[in-house]
Amino acid sequence: MTVPVITIDGPSGTGKGTLANSLASMLRWHLLDSGALYRIVAVGAESRGITRDNLTDLTAFVRSMEVSFSTEFPGSIVLEGQEISDIVRLEESGNKASLVAVIPEVREALLQRQRAFRRLPGLVADGRDMGTVVFPDSPMKFFLTASAQVRAQRRYKQLINKGVSVNLRGLLLDIQTRDERDSTRAVAPLLPADDAIIMDTDAMNAAQVLAEASNRIRAVLGLDITHTISGNDNLPG
Ligand code: DC
Repeated sequence: MTVPVITIDGPSGTGKGTLANSLASMLRWHLLDSGALYRIVAVGAESRGITRDNLTDLTAFVRSMEVSFSTEFPGSIVLEGQEISDIVRLEESGNKASLVAVIPEVREALLQRQRAFRRLPGLVADGRDMGTVVFPDSPMKFFLTASAQVRAQRRYKQLINKGVSVNLRGLLLDIQTRDERDSTRAVAPLLPADDAIIMDTDAMNAAQVLAEASNRIRAVLGLDITHTISGNDNLPG
């Protein structure tokens, strides 16, 4: 039996993580946050002194690293016995992830690991190349977009609410640099699949994105998603 997969791709700050989490919990499907895997590679390699030009050690690390995403403690990430979720979620870890993500050997080494998340009853996979490379046979693909300005504003609000002092202009520059790198790399660049539904979330909140996605899922997969998210939810990164 083919295990169903819903793919959600797009740059950071478009609300794809929020949508993926909501869909996975409402459908009770597995969740793959592939960006977290690239972040873990970047953070884990750096703390082991493995540089990006040392392809032998880097790919050996990617193939052998023991990672667990806790279902008991949502958001928890353990790498070889060490809780690393706080460092993995840092803005700078996203930038470092984008740098290791251009390396074809790293992408190749992560491919099977990502596909192993595809288990019954189904998978919601969020990233940059879920619909184009990792799960091209998915019948339900979303590609979320939003302007860099709106994404920087969302991230700014999120960090300020967490008590982190940030500079909006710096965030915007980081987003633009990361978009450029992710979109122009030679292997698996950030691109919508030909059969992806493109959703511009500039003027949408989380509930609206979820409602729109739910309608599409009902139409394409015949699954009915009843959701409870309040209409005022903002879209986080
Ligand atoms: O979604 P995120 O911000 O956690 O992703 C961090 C970086 O990882 C992103 O800038 C590019 C890379 N990435 C990727 O190349 N392919 C994916 N499927 C997911 C993330």
